[in-house]
Amino acid sequence: MTGPASFSWPPAPIGTARLVLRESEARDRAAFVELFASPEVRTYLGGPHPRDELERAVPEVPGRRPGLFVVELDGAMIGTVTLEQRDAERPGRLRPDGGCTELGYMFLPEAWGSGYAAEACSAALDWFADALPGEPVALCTQVANAPSMRLALKLGFTEVMRFEEFGAEQWFGVSSPVAPHQR
Ligand SMILES: CC(C)(COP(=O)(O)OP(=O)(O)OC[C@H]1O[C@@H](n2cnc3c(N)ncnc32)[C@H](O)[C@@H]1OP(=O)(O)O)[C@@H](O)C(=O)NCCC(=O)NCCS
Repeated sequence: MTGPASFSWPPAPIGTARLVLRESEARDRAAFVELFASPEVRTYLGGPHPRDELERAVPEVPGRRPGLFVVELDGAMIGTVTLEQRDAERPGRLRPDGGCTELGYMFLPEAWGSGYAAEACSAALDWFADALPGEPVALCTQVANAPSMRLALKLGFTEVMRFEEFGAEQWFGVSSPVAPHQR
């Protein structure tokens, strides 16, 4: 068995040059609501959710599950990075059984354009390579999502396949497993 169920969670907070990656806390709730309500953030993710619905439905401590890192800058949440099991029923697979770990990322618009997403994803991938050595990571993004495509390539993901889903062309790539010291 491989994938998120196989690592111990949560890890100690991970510090990078500018950021901290950690488990979610109650103080992150407003930023979670903002991420899911933002038309900019949700442009390629099925559109924004109604804010009043989110205010009712988002739990007191949102996003507390294995594989979800809150990314913090100067003490405040700016986004999330996830390493979670990809739904085996969806197109895009690295193994015949369909199971694989997938990288996901969402950042608040005010945090775009500073390299924070790349810095956080890279740290999460390093952590994952230590936790499950040799385990590949998948990434799926709409081809039209140019910032996300740039990030995928910058992180070293390479194309496995493209397919149509949700009425859009999707890019499905894999990060070859490399030891953190090789990054
Ligand atoms: C996808 C997403 C995370 C990319 O964010 P981003 O800030 O563009 O990504 P990066 O962290 O790689 O930052 C790159 C940009 O920072 C700039 N930058 C500025 N200072 C930098 C620094 N110190 N180091 C690195 N890059 C820096 C780069 O030049 C680049 O700018 P450009 O986009 O104009 O070329 C963001 O657009 C997002 O959250 N989108 C909504 C959610 C989403 O669509 N997720 C995809 C799910 S599949």
